Amino acid sequence: MRKPPQNPHDLNRHDLDDILGTINEEVRQRFGEGKLPDYIPSLADVPEDRFGMALALPDGRIHAVGNARDPFSIQSVSKVFTLTLAMSAVGDELWKRVDREPSGDPFNSLVQLEYEKGIPRNPFMNAGALVTADVVLSSYADAEATLLEFMRARSGNPEVGTDEVVAKSERESGHRNVAMANFIRSYGNLDNDVDAVLGFYYLQCSLRMDCVDLARSVQYLADAGHCATSDVQVTSAEGATRINSVMMTAGTYDAAGDFAYYVGLPAKSGVGGGIVAVVPHVMGVCVWSPGLDDKGNSLLGRYALHRFTRMTGLSVF
Ligand code: DON
Repeated sequence: MRKPPQNPHDLNRHDLDDILGTINEEVRQRFGEGKLPDYIPSLADVPEDRFGMALALPDGRIHAVGNARDPFSIQSVSKVFTLTLAMSAVGDELWKRVDREPSGDPFNSLVQLEYEKGIPRNPFMNAGALVTADVVLSSYADAEATLLEFMRARSGNPEVGTDEVVAKSERESGHRNVAMANFIRSYGNLDNDVDAVLGFYYLQCSLRMDCVDLARSVQYLADAGHCATSDVQVTSAEGATRINSVMMTAGTYDAAGDFAYYVGLPAKSGVGGGIVAVVPHVMGVCVWSPGLDDKGNSLLGRYALHRFTRMTGLSVF
């Protein structure tokens, strides 16, 4: 077995490419173990035998393997970026409307909302993302354009856009999100129309990006808020630390403990099979493989991240 380096900064280009190559080979032996999500019909159409992984370093270097340039539906990975926009706009006021505790419940659960009086547990469950979407809608003159511009600047890809088929599929099958948004609204915790909030939420979830785009897009969280691609200070160092902490405790829902145990990095998953992860002070990471585990996280993506932190010694623990 490869010995983890004493100092992660000693990892050179050759080591990282070698490690990605090994992971790619291992993962491809296991295609078919996950399950495609069928509650959003258009996401069930994606071929399951796909795996990509990309690393984005603060000096602009990219390491990538497999299907790292195949675009996919980023789904809940988008919640990292709307959280960043909401925190930039309202700062700690956000935490009066959404908590920052792990939920221990599935991403689409409503169960805590009633006894916690319409304050969602964290910004990464669907309920919390709806409140965050509401804050973004109220804070920016054109929230949709702001988000698109943000993603294009972070990824350096001016082609980043949304997938209308996925957005429509979500609108037609999103009964639970509709219920959730109305329930939160009944507690006075949404300022905008339920339809406007849901529309923005479906738009963010339907963004199409690839592993290289997304590794670049989270890299600011690995470099004290500085985005290497656009040379912009996206958030403060403290902001990046805070977002990473919420990703660690809630980014993979009721599997956050399991992720800390097997992966050991702040991470955010989406039902499109993507997972972004942050190696604080070192790099942004994205993995993608469409088959999910029973918690709605990419099964092989989680495995790839596990192997990555074990082979590089880059777990935060
Ligand atoms: O609202 C939904 O259910 C989806 N648009 C997003 C859920 C999601 O990605 C959960 N992540 N694992």
